[in-house]
Amino acid sequence: MKLAVVGGGSTYTPELVDGFARLRDVLAVEELVLVDPAAERLEPVGRLARRILAAQGHPGRVTWTDDLDAAVDGADAVLLQLRVGGQAARERDETWPLECGCVGQETTGAGGLAKALRTVPVVLDIAERVRRRNPGAWIVDFTNPVGIVTRALLTAGHRAVGLCNVAIGFQRKFAALLGVAPGEVELDHVGLNHLTWERAVRVGGRDVLPGLLAEHGDAIAADLRMPRRLLDRLGVVPSYYLRYFYEHDAVVEELRKKPSRAAEVAEMERTLLEMYADPALDHKPELLAKRGGAFYSEAAVALTSSLLTGTGPVQVVNTLNNGTLPFLPDDAVVEVPAAVDAAGARPLPVRPLEPLFAGLVAHVTAYEHLALEAALKGGRDRVFAALLAHPLVGQADRAEKLTDALLHHNREHLAWA
Ligand code: G6P
Ligand code: MN
Repeated sequence: MKLAVVGGGSTYTPELVDGFARLRDVLAVEELVLVDPAAERLEPVGRLARRILAAQGHPGRVTWTDDLDAAVDGADAVLLQLRVGGQAARERDETWPLECGCVGQETTGAGGLAKALRTVPVVLDIAERVRRRNPGAWIVDFTNPVGIVTRALLTAGHRAVGLCNVAIGFQRKFAALLGVAPGEVELDHVGLNHLTWERAVRVGGRDVLPGLLAEHGDAIAADLRMPRRLLDRLGVVPSYYLRYFYEHDAVVEELRKKPSRAAEVAEMERTLLEMYADPALDHKPELLAKRGGAFYSEAAVALTSSLLTGTGPVQVVNTLNNGTLPFLPDDAVVEVPAAVDAAGARPLPVRPLEPLFAGLVAHVTAYEHLALEAALKGGRDRVFAALLAHPLVGQADRAEKLTDALLHHNREHLAWA
C-alpha cells in the first residue's frame, strides 16, 4: 500500500509515522511519500521518518519530493496536512480579528475564514491533480478548517473524508478516567468540525456520562478551561473550541495579553527541526506532545485502513450531512460517528439535536456555506456576507472592518483580492 502525505515536511509528520510504525497490523504501509515545497524541512523530517520505521523494524519505504504529481502516482490514499502561508499566516489570523473585538483563532471566526479562503483553492487544485493521476485514491483531509475544506472537496465530487482529533482525544481521555480500553468507549459526538458536543459516553451500551461528570467534572472542566458550572448546565461535554463561543469576550481579553499560539508553535518548530536533524533520534520527541495533534496518527491509521480495506470500527469523521441532521442542507458537512468502508463514510443515525446546540450548528453551517462561496468565487461582498453570517461577528460595522483587515492581511494569498 502506498500513501502520500501532502505537507509531509510538517513537524507533525513524526506523529503520523510513529502511528504507522506502531499500528502496522491495522495499516500495512509499504511506501510512504512525503510531499512538500519546503526542502529545508522535508529532508530532516523524511530522514527521521525513515529512522522511526527502521527502529521499529517496519519494512516500509520512505521517500520525499516536491513533485506532487509523481508523489500521488499509484497512491492508495493521499493525506492532506498542509498550511498555506505557514505559521506566519496563522499568526495574522490570530491577531487582526482581536483589533475588532473578535476572537483571533485559526479555525474559528474571522481568522478561520481567512484560512478557508487561502486554503480551499490550493486543496482543490491538489485534489484535481490526484484525481487526474489516480481516480481511485482516497483523500483524507486534516487540513483546516476541516469542515469547509471537506465540503469543498465533496461538493467537487472528490473521494474525501475529513478528520479531526477532538473526538478521539475525548475517547482516550474518558477511557483513561473510566479505566477501560479506548475501543470500549463509544461517543455520541455531534455537530460540525470544531463545534461539537459529547452528549453521551457509552461503555457496554450504557451511558456513563452523568457519572463521569459527577466524579471527574472538575478535571474535565479544567482541561477545557471552562467553568464546571457550565458543563453541569449543558449536561454534555463541549469541545474546547466552544470556549470561543461561550466565553468569547473573555477569550478576546486573554488573547490580547499573550503571545499568539502561532508564535509559540513557530518556536517549538525551530527546536523540533533541530532535534530531527540529529541522526541519533529515532522516535517522536516528547516535545511534539505540546502540539495540539495528540492521537492524530491513531485516527488517521484507523480511517485510512477502513477506507482501503473496508473494515473497521465506527469512527467520528467529517462527511456530507445527507439528512443526518434534518435541519441542515444535505450538502453541509457534519462531524459525527460514521460507518466507514471502501465506499466511504456513512453517518450513523443521530438522535434529534437539542435547540441549545442546534441553533449554533445551523448558524455556523450557514456561515460555512457562505465561506465556501467566498473561497470559490472571491469578491469583497462574499467575504463580508460570510462574516456577517458568523455568530461571532453578526454586526455590519464589525463585518466591514474585519473584511478590510482580512483582505489587507491576505492579499498575497488571494489571487482575486
Ligand atoms: C487540534 C485541532 C487541530 C489543530 C490543532 C492545533 O489538534 O483538532 O485541528 O490544527 O489542534 O494544534 P497546534 O499545536 O498547531 O496549536
Ligand atoms: Mn481539528
